[in-house]
Amino acid sequence: MKKIAVFVSGGGSNLQSIIDQTKNGILKNLAAVSLVISNNPSAFALQRAKKEKIKSLFIKNSDEKVLQELKISQIDLICLAGYMSLISSKIIDVYNNRILNIHPSLLPKFGGKKMYGHYVHQAVIKAGEKKSGATVHFVDENYDTGKIIIQKEIPVFENDTSEILAKRVLEIEHKIYPEAIKSVILKMSDNEQKR
Ligand code: GAR
Repeated sequence: MKKIAVFVSGGGSNLQSIIDQTKNGILKNLAAVSLVISNNPSAFALQRAKKEKIKSLFIKNSDEKVLQELKISQIDLICLAGYMSLISSKIIDVYNNRILNIHPSLLPKFGGKKMYGHYVHQAVIKAGEKKSGATVHFVDENYDTGKIIIQKEIPVFENDTSEILAKRVLEIEHKIYPEAIKSVILKMSDNEQKR
């Protein structure tokens, strides 16, 4: 059983889908969400964590505090889910290849520093793209550049607004994030057995 920490800043619908899958889905008996960290004290995601009786903390600009809490909760894997802040190399050094992120576009397209949330969908529509999607990838020191684990496409329709597109992309995010987590955990367990 792997212990996951989910880092959030906003609504937390991806957090919810991960929790749901650990309770009654493809992550059952494989993983549990043991810690939720938010850099935004009013993130609705924190309320979701409380409702699920998961330890949840507001921590901003303190790698030391984050690392300390990850250690206390014996976290194996970090999942960024709508976490709007760059992860520092101090944390990446400790959790190398064990930090995942979900991004609401077909990376490497529409990634980078100012590309998050609705800005991504606005840019996709403005560029006249016929397809968009979501990507789960490993996290490195830059925004959205780490190795891709899973990517899934969806069509962009002519009348789409960024809100409509965001909703359609979120639906596939909720599906592929738990799948990506599962594949990473299975690989981690496999490697541990080989040691
Ligand atoms: C999701 O669409 C996620 O892909 C995006 O923020 C949203 C969070 O929704 N993340 C980024 O843009 C990161 N660059 P949620 O809080 O409901 O999970």
